[in-house]
Amino acid sequence: MEWFEWDFDHPAYFAIYHDKVEEAREEGPALARLLDLPPGSRVLDLPCGWGRLRPHLEAQQWEVLGGDLSAMNLRRHLQEFGDSVARLDLRALPFQSGCAEGILCAFTSWGYFATEAENQQQITEFARVLTPGGVLLLDLCGRHHLEAGAKEAGTAWRHFESYKERIRWSPDGRRILTERRVGVERFRHDIWIPTDTEARAALSRAGFRIDRVFGGLNEEAWHPRAERWIYRAIKL
Ligand SMILES: C[S@@+](CC[C@H](N)C(=O)[O-])C[C@H]1O[C@@H](n2cnc3c(N)ncnc32)[C@H](O)[C@@H]1O
Repeated sequence: MEWFEWDFDHPAYFAIYHDKVEEAREEGPALARLLDLPPGSRVLDLPCGWGRLRPHLEAQQWEVLGGDLSAMNLRRHLQEFGDSVARLDLRALPFQSGCAEGILCAFTSWGYFATEAENQQQITEFARVLTPGGVLLLDLCGRHHLEAGAKEAGTAWRHFESYKERIRWSPDGRRILTERRVGVERFRHDIWIPTDTEARAALSRAGFRIDRVFGGLNEEAWHPRAERWIYRAIKL
């Protein structure tokens, strides 16, 4: 089993990320502004998680379809936001080529796969399902910001209300490993964190032109140390 099949389906997930509900109030409208598409556009929320950003995309009069692998997240999505969601794997989207004008890929939802080819495949699939001129908004956590956070946190276990976690980088410095424990249960994130050069290269290889790169939700200029690196890329 790959780590993300287990980690995002763990019952502790919603407790660990409970603050993301509140954060969506700011993130949703801001990400929609950066995506910047006309009313009536078809927008894919990939991966959608439990759909926390969806109401803000629909508020733009976009036709929104979410997709995610996690059955637990999709069940919550069905309860809270209705049923226009698909269970899918980001490496092989079950959509026709050129079917959407926009894709939102929010909250560092890239780099989960073990190989470079698979991580590239995710971006290539995004390009395939977009119409020419369609827009991908790829919202990543900035690499240097993560490095600084990990350095400050150290490698010891840190204790939170319902769980403990520790963070370390893979020996080659390419992936960040977040181990978590809830009682006796163990699970972990294992995410490739690209450099800016790598992110740009992957987008370009997939057939995107980079329109703008933001360093924050309020159109801040990109900066290596910015907390967010948000790529607005246009399918050629
Ligand atoms: C950090 S969450 C972000 C969800 C959403 N974009 C948000 O901002 O709330 C990452 C999501 O990716 C989904 N995911 C992980 N691996 C996946 C895969 N191979 N295919 C589809 N979804 C996947 C997880 O189930 C989880 O819901």
